[in-house]
Amino acid sequence: MSSSAPVAPKSQNIVWHGETVSRAQREAAMGGKGAVVWLTGLSGSGKSSVARRAEQLLLDQGVHAYVLDGDNVRFGLCRDLGFSPQDRAENIRRVGEVAKLFADACVVVLTAFVSPYRADRDAVRALLPEGAFLEAWVDTPIELCAARDPKGLYEKARQGLIAEFTGVSAPYEEPLRPELRLQTAGQTVDETAAEVIAALRARGLIR
Ligand code: ADX
Repeated sequence: MSSSAPVAPKSQNIVWHGETVSRAQREAAMGGKGAVVWLTGLSGSGKSSVARRAEQLLLDQGVHAYVLDGDNVRFGLCRDLGFSPQDRAENIRRVGEVAKLFADACVVVLTAFVSPYRADRDAVRALLPEGAFLEAWVDTPIELCAARDPKGLYEKARQGLIAEFTGVSAPYEEPLRPELRLQTAGQTVDETAAEVIAALRARGLIR
């Protein structure tokens, strides 16, 4: 998967070390290929709930799966980042690189990030091998996200207490050709998660 050296780094005197374990060996040991399901959508659209439910369903089937969640990652790896377009780009770049490593280790990664900018999502797609990146647009109308408002953030944003809030005072660029469009209105989390599993199976990414 990642056998070629990536873009030249800032550091000098470092040399890319090629792998000694083959892809086939790793897939055999892990029992699968790995992939990235990139859930993108507004805050409150259901990304994290769907990701966690799909993770559970995959684990139940013996598939190595793992969730990378926007809020949680911002407590650690990305705790130095805010919500400016530049910081969001860096957030998505870092998470994209982490997701690539997980997929290379033959894990099915489910990411739950607003990731509002097309260019940032496309840059992650470009990191992954053809077919291993599934852009999954959690397409929930903003009115429904705001009505759910699980964290009370839409209310705060409306009161002007949160700057650059996606969908209110910052843009969300809808995916143009997502592999999956998940319309959660009127659907249960289980039903939406089942769509994710079905898509992975239809592409031969899981058994
Ligand atoms: S992203 O735009 O960089 O992809 P990310 O998914 O990491 O965002 O974080 C989004 C989460 O942070 C939201 O679910 C919400 O809980 C919280 N949040 C806080 N401030 C904002 C904001 N200004 N815009 C969007 N989400 C915000």
